Amino acid sequence: MAAINLNPKDRFAGGQTSIRRPREFMYFSFDDKHELHPFSDESISYYYPPGLGTPGSQERLGNLNVGFETFIQRDDTIDEHLDGLLDTLQVYEEKLWEQSKAGSIKLEDVRVRTDVVTWRGMMTKILTALFDDFNEFEMNATSYQDTIFIEENKAAKVEHRNQDHSRPRRRDETPQELMQYWGYKFEALSVLRKPWAEATREEIEDRNSTIVNNNAQFCSIVRTGIGQTSLIIAGEVDAVLGGRPDKADGIIPWVELKTSQELKPNDHKDLLKFERKMLRFWAQSFLLGVPTIAVGFRTPNGHLTRIQELQTQKLPQMVKNSTGAWDGNMCINFTAAFLEVLKATVKGPGVWLLKRRKGEPVIRITKIEDSGTGNILKPSFKAHRERL
Ligand code: A3P
Ligand code: MG
Ligand code: MG
Repeated sequence: MAAINLNPKDRFAGGQTSIRRPREFMYFSFDDKHELHPFSDESISYYYPPGLGTPGSQERLGNLNVGFETFIQRDDTIDEHLDGLLDTLQVYEEKLWEQSKAGSIKLEDVRVRTDVVTWRGMMTKILTALFDDFNEFEMNATSYQDTIFIEENKAAKVEHRNQDHSRPRRRDETPQELMQYWGYKFEALSVLRKPWAEATREEIEDRNSTIVNNNAQFCSIVRTGIGQTSLIIAGEVDAVLGGRPDKADGIIPWVELKTSQELKPNDHKDLLKFERKMLRFWAQSFLLGVPTIAVGFRTPNGHLTRIQELQTQKLPQMVKNSTGAWDGNMCINFTAAFLEVLKATVKGPGVWLLKRRKGEPVIRITKIEDSGTGNILKPSFKAHRERL
């Protein structure tokens, strides 16, 4: 077993861990039925915030409660492991394989090489671990062909959630499900499903009546690096500003959409709470190279009040100059150190559990299976790799 202590935090101060700017090299869409389409951009959304077309209508940007009763919600208790990511990787490698058979690339260049493959959500948990006191997680990791694959331990997550839900709700409390809906409704009000130049006025104005369905997702898969570790990270991106550039190398103007309760003016406690929350906004966006975060502020009853666009890159300094709730550089230093321990521990056959309990300043990596790769790698992916 290995353990990484989060305290004392000072160990992770100073210095400059090298980081590689995330570059998209694969992508996929889940359609409205949550079916996977590797290398399809059909589920991309285009950022077009409400109120833009109607000058002076700032006072009523939208009621996020509208349509809750028709919400089509993805069943997120289903354990998808790394499937969408691995299927897309397989399609990518099969194309390279064809090229190698035609002699245009070498066979040894067909298999994508990297230290770590995982979902963005897992890396967000690691990147925020140092400063998020509510942070808790269970993940499974396995090593296969010199790459560590990390998935969420879904069973543990569902169990935690059920425990949370068994807590009796205060009478004046907004139901959890409704508050979650506000996030998706904000997305529906802020995007178009086609480039704005192709959208009709009706399509722009009718967004308030479209049925919200969170099955459709567009996911970007990037190569990146933190310290001495190379990573392939996949995650959902909410929208793009303008369009995706044709040139593969450029920064893609993705926009992460978030809702947050309007701040009470001059209330330090409220500001601190918001800036703590910004740690997650920053981490999520930083990992995929999402440059802009659009925050839809809302009243306690779910009415949009304003939208503020934040530059991901500027958030750490902004928070440092304000409440000092977290330090982005320390988060990156910690993540680099964690990844070193991970690489030294998750070796050879078997499955490891990466676990942090709420309130405990330690991440434990424990071997839980002595052989195989658990359910982390789907059989079709392994069969594909064996063929290469
Ligand atoms: P908000 O973030 O505006 O609350 P994402 O922000 O990752 O794009 O997710 C979109 C919405 O999904 C969120 O909107 C929230 O409603 C819901 N959501 C995301 N992660 C969640 C989580 N861990 N628990 C509950 N709801 C979540
Ligand atoms: Mg999202
Ligand atoms: Mg979002």
